[in-house]
Amino acid sequence: MQSQFEPLICTKRIDETADATTFEFKKLDDSPFDYKAGQFITFEVDVAGELEYRAYSLSSTPSKPQSVAVTIKRVIGGKVSNYLLDHLQAGIALPAMPPAGEFTIENNQVSADILLMSAGSGITPCMSMARWLLDTQQKVNIHFIYSARSEADIIMASDLAMLNEQYDNFQLSFILEETESAEFIKGRLNVHNLTQLVPEVAGKTIFTCGPTPYMQVVETLAEERGFDMALFHKESFVPKVEEKQEQNDNGVSYQVVAPQHGKNFTITANKTLLNALEEAGVPIVGACRSGVCGACKCKVTGSVESTSRETLTAKQIEQGYVLSCSTRATSDLVVEL
Ligand SMILES: Cc1cc2nc3c(=O)[nH]c(=O)nc-3n(C[C@H](O)[C@H](O)[C@H](O)COP(=O)(O)OP(=O)(O)OC[C@H]3O[C@@H](n4cnc5c(N)ncnc54)[C@H](O)[C@@H]3O)c2cc1C
Ligand code: FES
Repeated sequence: MQSQFEPLICTKRIDETADATTFEFKKLDDSPFDYKAGQFITFEVDVAGELEYRAYSLSSTPSKPQSVAVTIKRVIGGKVSNYLLDHLQAGIALPAMPPAGEFTIENNQVSADILLMSAGSGITPCMSMARWLLDTQQKVNIHFIYSARSEADIIMASDLAMLNEQYDNFQLSFILEETESAEFIKGRLNVHNLTQLVPEVAGKTIFTCGPTPYMQVVETLAEERGFDMALFHKESFVPKVEEKQEQNDNGVSYQVVAPQHGKNFTITANKTLLNALEEAGVPIVGACRSGVCGACKCKVTGSVESTSRETLTAKQIEQGYVLSCSTRATSDLVVEL
């Protein structure tokens, strides 16, 4: 698992707002990156001696592959976002996993009229998609709708203004909670301002990313307006709650052997394989802990139930790889990292 990480060197930091910063990275050997707009990378960050793993969507475009950028927003009380914003500078290297994720144009059903709807740090994959679609001159119309608290909270404001200036097929709208300017829509996203901005939804594709309540509003409004939900795509940055974790395991448990690490332990039926491996001291990496990032994959022999296989290839699934954060044992297991 450790070998999947490659050091990326931070080459630049750009403070976007009071609580969001863009960091640019390159590889040590200057070789190009290979990724799809909308994908993320997972960093390994040493915070006071503890290794932490967090996923960050790339805000850069794959059409300029010599570097990548992530844009990180401070989460109040958050361990890694605050650490990176306070300490990460040009010249510092961070181990990162290869880009992954399914929230991309290529992996989804998409029409030529694209609504990129985001709020807060959720702007990052949408920005990457917009940059890539425009830079590669795809025949699409993009309407970029961004929600923020105030004008000062608009992340990548000057880049958005430049795209708006440069491309006829790029339309930009801001919905701001606090504004007196007629240039912006005042308030939060609702049926009135969305209808004003997008009078006709038929034939459009929505990619949305932002805080959970924001995405719930986007999804509800889309459904209420009869949107074709096959063309609705969303990305969540916040780990889903482990709903089954606290349920009674009915006394059912299995044996797990991790031969590479000399571990032999018991797993109860409702515990995730990731939690059990961590508790047993197996050096597995859990990042999103919600079946999104692929960091926790491992190979199992035995019978399991999995709720997500995102980022795993058909070949890996055939070989027995699972996402341990989204997997529970239904028999004794042998696990390899
Ligand atoms: C696929 C993916 C892509 C992501 N892309 C980005 C990105 O481009 N930019 C970015 O800034 N972040 C992004 N994130 C979120 C990021 O991985 C971290 O979760 C975030 O930086 C918070 O980490 P932390 O260590 O500071 O907070 P933690 O110490 O992990 O959490 C502190 C508290 O904040 C809550 N919390 C965790 N994450 C969030 C969040 N995003 N918003 C609100 N509350 C939260 C936790 O539930 C906890 O209560 C992404 C996450 C995923 C899964
Ligand atoms: S930790 Fe991200 S998929 Fe399991």
